[in-house]
Amino acid sequence: MDLQLRGLSAVVTGGSAGIGKEIVRTLAGEGCNVHFCARGRERIATTLAELRGLPGTVEGESVDVADPEAVTRWLAAVGRFDILVANVSALADDWRTTLRVDLEGTVHVTETAIPVLQGSAHAAITFIGSKTASYEAPHSPSYGASKAAMAHYMKSLSSRLLPTVRVNVVSPGDILFDGGYWDGVRRRDPAGFARTVQRNRMGRFGAPDEVARVVAFISSPAAAFVSGANWYVDGGSVAQVQF
Ligand SMILES: NC(=O)c1ccc[n+]([C@@H]2O[C@H](COP(=O)([O-])OP(=O)(O)OC[C@H]3O[C@@H](n4cnc5c(N)ncnc54)[C@H](OP(=O)(O)O)[C@@H]3O)[C@@H](O)[C@H]2O)c1
Repeated sequence: MDLQLRGLSAVVTGGSAGIGKEIVRTLAGEGCNVHFCARGRERIATTLAELRGLPGTVEGESVDVADPEAVTRWLAAVGRFDILVANVSALADDWRTTLRVDLEGTVHVTETAIPVLQGSAHAAITFIGSKTASYEAPHSPSYGASKAAMAHYMKSLSSRLLPTVRVNVVSPGDILFDGGYWDGVRRRDPAGFARTVQRNRMGRFGAPDEVARVVAFISSPAAAFVSGANWYVDGGSVAQVQF
């Protein structure tokens, strides 16, 4: 299947590690020209070196999504683009940080991108949510609540922006990669890590590229009739029916 991403441009927040980096790699692998941001310059440089030579170009900038002026300046410098993937979370368990980074950061980058996206014939916004939006989350209520709010915002945006801009959420389950959240749990709490594997119906963690391929598809013209949807990439671990 041709995703028809060749020659399109995408903006990805949080593209120097984990799921975001795989999204950048997958989109550029399909011939999409990608601009990503992150805060740390060293990992941006490493990522740019690692992703050199893909069919699409990759550019990275040091921008904190919690700094609205910096985000506005960055998007103005990028110019025209077709796809926005809002991937950053503070992965924090306090309300202030989570609301500022996960929610206000996502809303600002999205509302700033919308006028640009409305000029594209293939416009798509994809938020990276979490299966945690559908569970109780006693240890990180702000994280689950912000991801649930993001899914609600997606639904309202889809209705507001169609037929010009499609809007969806991709909600990962437990995703393992070196240096990531679950890698830390594996080292700090091997028993808790083992319980998480046992709870998963596939008996394993997901990998970032398994999320990235779904993001690339849902953000691409190949998914032209998909909007207002929340796609779970969680190995079947959310048990309830998603209405
Ligand atoms: N990992 C999982 O198991 C999992 C499960 C469900 C959902 N998710 C969701 O997937 C998304 C990515 O998670 P991840 O685990 O891949 O995260 P990660 O490994 O912590 O990577 C986050 C990326 O975002 C950048 N970043 C963090 N804060 C930023 C900020 N304020 N401004 C700009 N860039 C920032 C980081 O670089 P700098 O630190 O240099 O800025 C890095 O490039 C999140 O929305 C998360 O909630 C993850």
